[in-house]
Amino acid sequence: MEICDRMKISQSTFAARRRALLEQLPVGSLALIAGAELATRNRDAEYPFRQHSDFYYLTGFNEPGSVLLLIPGREEGEVVLFCPPRDPQLEIWTGYRAGPEGCVERFGADQAFALTELDERLPLLLNGRKRLYYALGSDEALDSRVRGWLNSIRAKSRQGAEAPEELVLVDNLLHEMRLFKGPEELAVMREAARISGAAHTAAMRSCRPGGYEYQLEAAIQAHCISQGARFQAYSPIVGGGANGCILHYIENDAPLQDGELVLIDAGCELDCYASDITRTFPINGRFSAEQRALYELVLKANQACIDAAAPGVPWNAVHELSVRVLTEGLVELGLLQGEVEALIEAGAYTEFYMHRIGHWLGMDVHDVGNYKVGGEWRPLQPGMVMTIEPGLYVSPHNAKVEARWRGIGIRIEDNILITETGCEVLTAAAPKAVAEIEALMAQA
Ligand code: GLY
Ligand code: MN
Ligand code: MN
Repeated sequence: MEICDRMKISQSTFAARRRALLEQLPVGSLALIAGAELATRNRDAEYPFRQHSDFYYLTGFNEPGSVLLLIPGREEGEVVLFCPPRDPQLEIWTGYRAGPEGCVERFGADQAFALTELDERLPLLLNGRKRLYYALGSDEALDSRVRGWLNSIRAKSRQGAEAPEELVLVDNLLHEMRLFKGPEELAVMREAARISGAAHTAAMRSCRPGGYEYQLEAAIQAHCISQGARFQAYSPIVGGGANGCILHYIENDAPLQDGELVLIDAGCELDCYASDITRTFPINGRFSAEQRALYELVLKANQACIDAAAPGVPWNAVHELSVRVLTEGLVELGLLQGEVEALIEAGAYTEFYMHRIGHWLGMDVHDVGNYKVGGEWRPLQPGMVMTIEPGLYVSPHNAKVEARWRGIGIRIEDNILITETGCEVLTAAAPKAVAEIEALMAQA
């Protein structure tokens, strides 16, 4: 393995992935996988560039607008890259570009061309191929260019040109590959999770009543950036008190009140691999009786699901387990009344637990890969990485429960790798036991 000290996927792994995809493509076909475009923020300011995960998965090439073609059995080369052209004047502003030569020398392309040649070359390359593999529907502008290339071949049919007859969504092949993580990507994901776990610990240490949610966001981001993870995998959620009940709260601008909890859902990205951690802790360092009771219940569901996650267990069984543990606990605490089976059947828990137990995790935070195969929830298999993130959210407006419970929002989210025998918790570095959190915050 040629992993460098910054935890990056090696070029030999990108090459092996291209080879694995090529082997699934019939001779006479062509797969087109496009990179992301640079997005304008306003005028000539741009959002930070993030490469498209499918494209990066196969190339490790980080320049905007690039296009990869995989053409099995093609004599002049099976791996063709289109990239931004070299332009010394522009590079003074934008930084160094690899150019076609660099794509061949350093990114494993058999042939490479400037993007300015795409419209001219694509119809020639597509001509005579029977089947096009392409992620139709992901990018309207590119869909329309692909249509243009196909039409330009059809327009030459009397001269003997032959447009592909079949279009296959390349997503299915590629996303099934991305669902199963290999040794290098697991090393990167372990490191991303370790950095994010330490970032949550730093936020716990720095938390004070009277501070602001954005100060905890700053603690998280500062730690991640200082460790080389410059980007978060998604917008961090830092919700104090009842803001913790808003599932996608990202304002992060309210004061942190003594006596309330704060929920932080934040995870960095490392070499395009995500981590996704939630921790919830008391702003003053000590859980109240109600906070502790609900927290212990969410933790029990989190631990039960982690203990249950193993090869062969259907994806949905883990979710159903979380529903059962939480419903039983809500009945014990008096937030739900009735018989557990009937409450589960009626979905009574959805008033407090309105999302699923988790999702696949990888290059995208809500990663690719099917959850059902042939109509059945798919069994977990070694190499899959997922989140376990049960939560309870008691709306501040819920008049059906005693006032003492209202406005408490708790989620505890870990990242796990399914192994041969069970699972490995990638996020173990982030404290989650009540005693551990209280001891850590008391020392700070
Ligand atoms: N941070 C997004 C999620 O937990 O799914
Ligand atoms: Mn999350
Ligand atoms: Mn998540």
